[in-house]
Amino acid sequence: MNNVFVRPDYQSCCVDVAAQIAALIREKPNAVLGLATGSTPIGVYAELVRLHREEGLDFSGVTTFNLDEYYPMAADSPHSYHRFMREMLFDHINCVNFHIPDGTPRSEEQVRDDCARFEGLIAEAGGLDIQLLGIGRTGHIGFNEPGAGRDTYTRLVTIDYLTRADAALSFQGIENVPVRAITMGVGTILEARQIIMMASGTHKAAIVQQALEGKITSKVPASFLREHHNAVVYLDEPAAALLTEYAKPWRSPDADFSTFPLRRRALIALGQELDKPLGKLSAQALAEAGMQRLAHAVPSLEAAIQEVELDLSKRLSDDRFLPQHQSVFCLSPHPDDDVICCGSTLIKMAERGNKVVVAYGVSGSMAVRDKDVLALLRARHPRLISFIEDHTEPGRAFEDVFNDVRQFIFDREPGEPDAELLRDLKRLVREGEASDACRKMGAKPLFLNLPFYETGHVAKKPIGEPDVEIMLKALRDTQPEIVMLTGEQSDPHGTHEMCAEAFNRAACIYLAEGGKPFKQWFYRGAWEEYEVWEGDYYSVFNKELMERKIGLILDHISQLDPVYPGTSDPREFYERARDRNRATARQLQQLGVLPPSRSHDPIYAEVFQINS
Ligand code: F6R
Repeated sequence: MNNVFVRPDYQSCCVDVAAQIAALIREKPNAVLGLATGSTPIGVYAELVRLHREEGLDFSGVTTFNLDEYYPMAADSPHSYHRFMREMLFDHINCVNFHIPDGTPRSEEQVRDDCARFEGLIAEAGGLDIQLLGIGRTGHIGFNEPGAGRDTYTRLVTIDYLTRADAALSFQGIENVPVRAITMGVGTILEARQIIMMASGTHKAAIVQQALEGKITSKVPASFLREHHNAVVYLDEPAAALLTEYAKPWRSPDADFSTFPLRRRALIALGQELDKPLGKLSAQALAEAGMQRLAHAVPSLEAAIQEVELDLSKRLSDDRFLPQHQSVFCLSPHPDDDVICCGSTLIKMAERGNKVVVAYGVSGSMAVRDKDVLALLRARHPRLISFIEDHTEPGRAFEDVFNDVRQFIFDREPGEPDAELLRDLKRLVREGEASDACRKMGAKPLFLNLPFYETGHVAKKPIGEPDVEIMLKALRDTQPEIVMLTGEQSDPHGTHEMCAEAFNRAACIYLAEGGKPFKQWFYRGAWEEYEVWEGDYYSVFNKELMERKIGLILDHISQLDPVYPGTSDPREFYERARDRNRATARQLQQLGVLPPSRSHDPIYAEVFQINS
């Protein structure tokens, strides 16, 4: 596909897409737009609102049609796409002519008639000039899930389980996510004169690759976009990462093998693909993989291989990388990312006499189950009891407070946010778990409780001055020499990225006011791991340390069998962490730079990127 534009970040994609839509509206004031919901277009809508306010972009003649709506779904529900569109766009611009499929429950026959009417309205308006799309991890566009053919039109459909799991976070549980939806069909979408599909984040990379480079098939409905004469795709770098050009840059005719990072990446990839140690890669294997030019850039293939072997071996050395008697500040967005991603390395750091502070960005209260709080209250958990004693009117019996909490839980509507006390109790549950883990690691916990998170809903407030101030104070108090941060970019509106934004803003102020510069260590995040070729330091550890790390993860009892699994991966966090640390070590062993382990004594590794 020719029209694929990769931008460094989500925001630049949004600005470009909004500019295209704005150009159309300026040229054709009665333009007909097809719009999408979900997290992907939020930045586009924000930019369109800005263009309306600051540059007078006029939507008065524009007609819009939204792709879809859950069914059944009341228009005023916080989960409805009607409400989403009003809050994100229509309440802030002068568009009066908008159409969104109606989720009101009614007979199937009525739904069918309304779907046909919806198609009729699009035709009457003259057809869609631009259709904006996101892509689901199933490959869906709209709610056209795998199996939807190119000749489908607006209709009632069943939502795929993975799509429902992805929506579970905002519905506070998959059981609250509707099973059905009304959606434009693939045919409706393909009839638009132009299509703009966007994708952002690592979690979309695999499906983007399938849609753009795999077979054109109803198993991946987004793949049909390649048959459209005027479809463009905007991706941020994480979403583009698995496209051949990005995943295999050595295949490009302009590949510059005179740079060591490309030689390193290419040889590691070849060793992994052929399941061979680096030392066993032959000139023929290189030629077959399209890397013959690599050996021309260095005196010999052997020299190129040795250079990479030496580089990787150096990166396994704790003595070279691990600090001693320094001040280490690990920013853990949620109160368990620290142990999942760098538990063993934090233990090693504390053992080397470093002063390790783990700063927890948000309370993580959203991910605690009601029933766990009730069980702890029933068991008279001292931390919760003393909080209740300190925060209720004197003389009020604990039993009354407990009954209030229980009543609230039983009476609340699905999706209704926690009452303040319940939210505080959930925060305390997580603080207790994180404190236990920190004590065992030899680290000091610092609970930042950044206010951007405390909306009671999944949607967060933008990072503001109070968040930056709290982070700045933590930096001033800690004066770190090393800061450990997540490098995750999975979700444009995710907590991890927002914590990183608060940190970056605070760090600018801290450094400008004369704070001592620090090294930055990035860990990948709770869901993904850096690839071997991306690593600067591999913190290798043995089974005993892995057992301690698992113990730390299990201290976060409330996160066992997580409320928001986030993926369809059924493994617990400790299993995922163990498997991926093992996988990294295995890859280093397979490349021949880490000695093989005996079967009863496996080796593990955490991976970091380091910026001085
Ligand atoms: C939304 C829609 C969906 C989303 C897709 C991606 O109207 O029809 O196809 O575009 O599920 O969702 P996000 O953007 O939340 O990743």
